[in-house]
Amino acid sequence: MLTETERHRSPAVEIEETVDTNESNDGYVSPYGKTFTKNMWYFAAPSKALKRGEKVAKIMLNQPIMVGRDSNGKVFAMRDICPHQAVPLSAGHFDGKEVECPFHGWKFDTSGVCTEVPSLCSDQKLNLCGIKSRTYPCREVLDCIWVYFGDKPIAEEDLPEVPHAPGLEGCTYAKTTTTLLLPTHIDYAVAALIDTAHVPFVHNSWWWRSQKVLKEKAKTYVPEGTGWTMVKHKPSQGSILFKLIGNYIETEISFRLPGCRREYLSYHNQTKMAGITTLTPVDDTHTELNHTTYWTWAPPLTQMFSPIVDYFVTTFLMQDQTLALMQEQIINKYNPRLIMTIKDAGTPGHWYFMLKKEWNDAYEQGRAFVNPIKEKVLRWRT
Ligand code: FES
Ligand SMILES: [Fe+2]
Repeated sequence: MLTETERHRSPAVEIEETVDTNESNDGYVSPYGKTFTKNMWYFAAPSKALKRGEKVAKIMLNQPIMVGRDSNGKVFAMRDICPHQAVPLSAGHFDGKEVECPFHGWKFDTSGVCTEVPSLCSDQKLNLCGIKSRTYPCREVLDCIWVYFGDKPIAEEDLPEVPHAPGLEGCTYAKTTTTLLLPTHIDYAVAALIDTAHVPFVHNSWWWRSQKVLKEKAKTYVPEGTGWTMVKHKPSQGSILFKLIGNYIETEISFRLPGCRREYLSYHNQTKMAGITTLTPVDDTHTELNHTTYWTWAPPLTQMFSPIVDYFVTTFLMQDQTLALMQEQIINKYNPRLIMTIKDAGTPGHWYFMLKKEWNDAYEQGRAFVNPIKEKVLRWRT
């Protein structure tokens, strides 16, 4: 009996592995949705979300986190649980130096150390330095705040690179960040983020794709950093936007662990626009997507266009969100087998799991990460 894939495939598509979708699920272990990539930086918030003396409560990688900015402008991240009796510290007052727990008024500085226990009498001594809420390395890069989640304490110089938007340092830019919640584990969200085959079917707004015309593509991928880069090329002429912009633009797309897709548009070899999509696990079944668009056309004057950019980006991403909602309802209820690898459109998804495994293995074995991807030309229709 033909599998569902075999019935629908075009003769030109080579299938690496087929599965009978009617088989029972017994003994099947999906590589999706099991773990998070640890010892990595995760996007927390756009810088403008936190003014001096402000803090925000978040759940990141199943952990309650308070991200804040002190009165000197420095960002910090702290476990959002009072060590005394487990009330969220973020619910208390923050004066830019210390946060006061709303339950018994204990105060903590931004390094997580307790500085005051109001109930103590003047002759009752207590080593306050021994009372501490866990803190996380926190960095601000290109107007975005990132938090590092590691298994154990790490020296500043041993921290890995933040997978932000290289090439924009020193540039004057305008920017806007769009945030969306996806109802899936980060692995599914990454799979959709790097999947090219869904684009003509899901993203078919009039201003993006005029019709479902599939064209063969061949792109060169090279291993780089903790991911890969699809080398610079002319963007798809199927897109109406690109037709309007002209012939002198090139695009470069890359992916980096733990879930960061970067797309650059250059005009006459100068970066004009960068779209950085980051995925941060909230918990096992929710992922926060942040898409930051940077552009270098006449900033800061063009910052006024950010609502328009937000409109287009949100419309685009909500198309993904709609699919994710449908997918989540099926997966949660039936946990079906999935067809993992169909050459070549499915190859980046396969690479993602290879990278994630190698990153975790290298860390556990105390050795340097070795990128497992080999340079390759991938071909697909989109
Ligand atoms: S619970 Fe925070 S001070 Fe008591
Ligand atoms: Fe998409």
